[in-house]
Amino acid sequence: MDFVNDENINRYADFVKSLNGGGGKFYIMTFGCQQNEADSEKLAGLALLMGYSAADNPEDADLILVNTCAIREHAELKALSKIGGFKKLKKSNPELIVGVCGCMANESHVVEKLKNSYPYVSFTLAPGDIHRLPEIVAGILSGGKRRFETESDVHPGIIEGLPVMRKERHRAWVSIMYGCNNFCSYCIVPYVRGRERSRRSEDIIRECRDLVQDGCRDITLLGQNVNSYSSDISFAELLLGIAKIDGDFRIRFMTSHPKDVPDELIDVIGAEEKIAPHFHLPLQSGSDRVLSLMNRRSTMERYSGILEKLRRSRPGIAVTSDIIVGFPTESEEDFDATLRALSELRFDMIYSFIYSPRKGTPAAVMDGQVPYPVKKERMSRLLELQGAISLEKNKLFEGRKDPVLVDSFETREGGGICSGRNAWGKLVHFEGTSEMIGTSRDVRIDRAGPFELYGTIVK
Ligand code: SAH
Ligand code: SF4
Ligand code: F3S
Repeated sequence: MDFVNDENINRYADFVKSLNGGGGKFYIMTFGCQQNEADSEKLAGLALLMGYSAADNPEDADLILVNTCAIREHAELKALSKIGGFKKLKKSNPELIVGVCGCMANESHVVEKLKNSYPYVSFTLAPGDIHRLPEIVAGILSGGKRRFETESDVHPGIIEGLPVMRKERHRAWVSIMYGCNNFCSYCIVPYVRGRERSRRSEDIIRECRDLVQDGCRDITLLGQNVNSYSSDISFAELLLGIAKIDGDFRIRFMTSHPKDVPDELIDVIGAEEKIAPHFHLPLQSGSDRVLSLMNRRSTMERYSGILEKLRRSRPGIAVTSDIIVGFPTESEEDFDATLRALSELRFDMIYSFIYSPRKGTPAAVMDGQVPYPVKKERMSRLLELQGAISLEKNKLFEGRKDPVLVDSFETREGGGICSGRNAWGKLVHFEGTSEMIGTSRDVRIDRAGPFELYGTIVK
């Protein structure tokens, strides 16, 4: 593994600064998962390094970066439509630089399309190439050609020490690994994010320590499969190492894969108070036949075995999951198996998705694609069942008093509403003030809904 601290970054950034006279504003639009949120904080850090300052909206920006997601067709269409909207901005400001970053920037058919049909897009930047932003902006500012490449990704190593502009002080994302080796048959991620590579444990632990010293109260470790983390230590050992850091903070992590949940990890989750009592473990389908076609390398029996152990090890732990509806060949019987799985496994919440064929993945060319109306109808049955289960789970919180870390505040007539999450990751709303953002407050839960809890602050 190649761990790089790219010295050229500063040289190119200084060059951009000199070309711009240190001025200019940047705007970043982010789609997709938390990995993209984390990457956008790095893109913002690099933009600051190049002397740009943050703009409140794209109209005021000289550099617009669209950090895209390719996971479903809908995500791609949304990003393309936003990018299309920048055409008129480029007309009124010919100096404007528009860059397309993220997962779509590593799909060759998308890059071709951007190059040929979106003349106001100046460059694409694949996810493994983020550190090259200053080099590319320098090239374009000094009169270079538009740049469209995918091949240089995926960067085979890991670039450490990139500047980060964090959106919030009280919570932070920390990437611990990049890429994915699993090749689930429906999924584009391994093609756009490249092979799995893990950061060194000492770099991760140092970053977490710095965050906690800076007042961070909630750290989410990120990776497509955090539990496949592999360096000198295992993922469970990494969690232990982070939990040893002094301070009042919680550790979360996502996403985990059921093929890699050893007892060692379950024991650590049971033993370490600092690890939030929440586990996100995508199931995808309740039918073993479909799971096998999905190349998930897991079965219902294995999955429910993990949950049983986990709930024994950490009683009351919240479990959330991902479900795909309408994978090719999914029959009524298969779908019933998924509904049965939800009834048996009783997730606190699920993220459910209608299967979307992705170009280049095996499932996209499988026989037996399920017609859209069938997928939609199954989805509504799935949501109805899970809505009832989630409500039942959330009702267990009624009357309880637990700390809530406040993330946001919204003014309402006669006051305002704070929103935040409790240790179990449940969204909680209560009356409060804007000064409460970033602090932890004891909240008694008065009422539960299927997606959120409503409470009152306890003095
Ligand atoms: N690495 C994680 C999450 C990957 S993407 C994991 O393995 O679980 C997040 C979710 O998007 C997936 O869990 C899956 O449920 C969904 N997803 C991925 N590809 C999809 C597709 N082609 N159509 C619909 N949903 C998809
Ligand atoms: Fe996609 Fe599967 Fe990898 Fe998750 S584990 S990112 S679903 S290929
Ligand atoms: Fe989307 Fe890429 Fe994340 S495809 S879900 S932004 S890894």
